[in-house]
Amino acid sequence: MPKVIFIDPEGIEHRVDATVGQSLMRAAVDSQVPGIEAMCGGNCICATCHAYIEDERLATLAPPDATERDMLECTSEPRANSRLCCQVPMTEALDGLIVRVAASQH
Ligand code: FES
Repeated sequence: MPKVIFIDPEGIEHRVDATVGQSLMRAAVDSQVPGIEAMCGGNCICATCHAYIEDERLATLAPPDATERDMLECTSEPRANSRLCCQVPMTEALDGLIVRVAASQH
């Protein structure tokens, strides 16, 4: 089972098991990673699952669609490596991915 390493806003590392096909958001919520609120339940309409993907692996992800890009622009601290965790499905290839949870989910 692939693992995701979430780093919460306090800088604490959480090593989480993720099922292939499951979103990063669901893996984080199921493991109670602090900072991922996921208020819309994964429907890409709240941006409260905002996180930063490690730069080295960002290009291996399918790019965000227009809806996700629009939502990311609404976040308080968007960066080039910003993603909404509910829009990134886990794969075996992403084993060990490092995801930094954004400090503010508004
Ligand atoms: S959970 Fe709402 S946008 Fe991701």
